[in-house]
Amino acid sequence: MSRPAVYIETFGCQMNELDSELVRGQLASLGYRFVQTPDEARVVLYNTCSVRDLAEQKVRSRLGEMHLRKQGESALVVGVLGCMAERDGEDLIRRMPVVDVLCGPGELDKLPALLDNAVRTKRSLAAERAPKSARQVALQGNASRRSSTLAAAEDNLELLDLSRSISPTDHAGSSYVRITRGCNKFCTYCVVPFTRGAETHRPPDHIIDECKRLADAGVIEVTLLGQTVNHYRFEHGSAVTVNDVIQPQKGRSYKGGHRRDPFSGTQVTTFADLLVRIHEEVPGIQRLRFVTSYPRDFGDDALEAMRNHPRMCRYLHVPAQTGSNALLARMNRGYTVEQYLEFVDRARSILDEPEKGRPLTIAGDIIVGFCGETEEDHELTKRLLQRVRYKNCFIFKYSPRPGTVAYDKLADDVPDTVKRRRNNELLAVQQELSQEVGREQIGRTFDVFIEGVSAREARQRSKLATGNSPTLTVGGQPIGSNGRPAEQTVSREPARSVQLTGRTDGDLIVHFEAGGQAPDDLIGRIAPVRIISASGLSLFGELEPDGRSI
Ligand code: 5AD
Ligand code: SF4
Repeated sequence: MSRPAVYIETFGCQMNELDSELVRGQLASLGYRFVQTPDEARVVLYNTCSVRDLAEQKVRSRLGEMHLRKQGESALVVGVLGCMAERDGEDLIRRMPVVDVLCGPGELDKLPALLDNAVRTKRSLAAERAPKSARQVALQGNASRRSSTLAAAEDNLELLDLSRSISPTDHAGSSYVRITRGCNKFCTYCVVPFTRGAETHRPPDHIIDECKRLADAGVIEVTLLGQTVNHYRFEHGSAVTVNDVIQPQKGRSYKGGHRRDPFSGTQVTTFADLLVRIHEEVPGIQRLRFVTSYPRDFGDDALEAMRNHPRMCRYLHVPAQTGSNALLARMNRGYTVEQYLEFVDRARSILDEPEKGRPLTIAGDIIVGFCGETEEDHELTKRLLQRVRYKNCFIFKYSPRPGTVAYDKLADDVPDTVKRRRNNELLAVQQELSQEVGREQIGRTFDVFIEGVSAREARQRSKLATGNSPTLTVGGQPIGSNGRPAEQTVSREPARSVQLTGRTDGDLIVHFEAGGQAPDDLIGRIAPVRIISASGLSLFGELEPDGRSI
């Protein structure tokens, strides 16, 4: 049977991006062909996110469009993958009969079978000219239909990760590697523990092997993924490892982290062990970072591993969510503002070395307008931003999610106008702080991982393609809109060099001119750039003249 063309659109987080990549690899190996637009596809898949209602609304509007299209194209197969499939389940099909396939994030290994079934059923129904009402296929895979144990389901998902197809064309440069699935924290506002299930940790050997395969394919930057990534802990000999108990250490108010129990004899790979193993065993990876960290679980062991290993990035994404202890308690975050700040200070004391070109940068998340948030709480959050001085901070308006404790037990009592005003105020405070952090970098030299031409450059190129812009040159040679030397010289002047964009290991965005160097020789490499100015979140620099790229 020939396989139909597939289009997949991803909503939400990096975890979803990785899941979509796995789905693409899995289906491509079975002969499905992927296309760039939904119009070219006979199978349209949405990999969805349920963290906020806005993300779900976007998917509902896409499904509305597909509903119209299906009126004249009954063979079209529409699939909802990810968190909405898990959360809404049959309800989604009832409300949105356009959906043929549902597949939750814990069931993605079953997608090929579900899809194959949907495509075949559609074909045979079309052949039989079945009445419209019979054409609804609605095949589901979500946790409510899971017959296996957690360990068995986990093994199947592990097989999906293990079968990841890695190729130099798809994976040049930078890639994600999952180390932990699910979450056990049950913050009262959050749907993730319900959609992604219990926290489980991948075996370290599998993670190392994946990193090696990526490095062999030319990847030089790996971001390890987990909802609470620093909570990683693998007990050898057990298929699945879930939460452990955190023992505060003597002498310090709070340290978190995992320590070995010298008496249990259990062989454990801690998060710090894993970082060190990847660093030592996969030297091809020039940059190793991880997201998202949970403030309560950070031991000094992991911070010291970051300090002692040069290819570990000095970057942490560690959401506080609010600056109010009352709200932290209502959110069930499990730490106080004081404990959070103690962690930030500890991380800075271990990792912040600006004089060596290695400042620690910290990114955060804040939820504004959570249940019962007062003006005083809001002021405390502003104060937290000012105290921490994040490089950047994502600020989200609280969005009540059905099924969560907050949805069931706490009133969403901050009016939307107030949420919006507080959101804007926090954004303004953070913008100032991001600018300050940017300005502090002036005069420093950073190793920059060069990702491509800048957005400004891309705009110039599209103008060039329409013929009303000056010629771009590299080393005096004109280049075309693809960034490579143009076949023919275009006579318009003046000539100028190409602006490239990259990131520091602390995830600061840097723009700089390629100067006399060909962009293709630089893109995908790491090279030293000296910062000469800053504007908003962007830094502007110059390639160090004698700096060699990796
Ligand atoms: N409403 C608003 N923001 C939320 N987040 C998680 N759940 C909600 C919600 N119900 C935010 C948190 C989290 C980020 C991924 O999304 O800040 O860190
Ligand atoms: Fe959601 Fe809290 Fe888990 Fe993060 S730690 S995924 S916010 S439940």
